[in-house]
Amino acid sequence: MKFSSDLTALLSATSAALATCAASTNTPSPPPPPTLTHLYTMNCTLAPAITIGDGPIYNRVAIPIVGGTFSGPRGLSGTIADLGADWGVTDKHGVFHPDTRYHLYAGAEKAGIFVQTAGSAQPDGRIQLRMVFETGHPDYYWLNYVVAVGILTAGDGYVLIDAWQVNSPAL
Ligand SMILES: *[C@@H]1O[C@H](CO)[C@@H](O)[C@H](O)[C@H]1NC(C)=O
Repeated sequence: MKFSSDLTALLSATSAALATCAASTNTPSPPPPPTLTHLYTMNCTLAPAITIGDGPIYNRVAIPIVGGTFSGPRGLSGTIADLGADWGVTDKHGVFHPDTRYHLYAGAEKAGIFVQTAGSAQPDGRIQLRMVFETGHPDYYWLNYVVAVGILTAGDGYVLIDAWQVNSPAL
């Protein structure tokens, strides 16, 4: 009798534990997502690629970035300097990963902005970018603090990039 009531208690504890476990595997409601603000849309002119080839680590290429324009809603418009490149690599699965450094001239005063991007080609053929900006110009200083992402669509001798700033959800 003692044994059977112990067993009953054990079974009831076990089923309570299982219920808790099942509840905790239910998908919790997701936290509020970050939002995106358009930074600019860019048409970036490229020169023919310099092949570096399959070195000890990666199959790397150098694609000169030689000009272009960008424009966006917060005064973030201007031209791209003929001083930059994408030293991207193709990994062992055949996926391309850009690795760029280039320079923007923003606004009438041609404020210098240094841009670094990296990312990966996606199955749809476009490339997703992580973007980092650096500038000392007061009008554009806020860019130093921005977390930004880009969507790149390749053209023939140019690429189009839509750049977005990530915003935290409201507190
Ligand atoms: C981007 O610039 C190239 C010239 O470098 C031009 O042929 C192309 O049409 C432009 N694309 C867009 C969407 O502006």
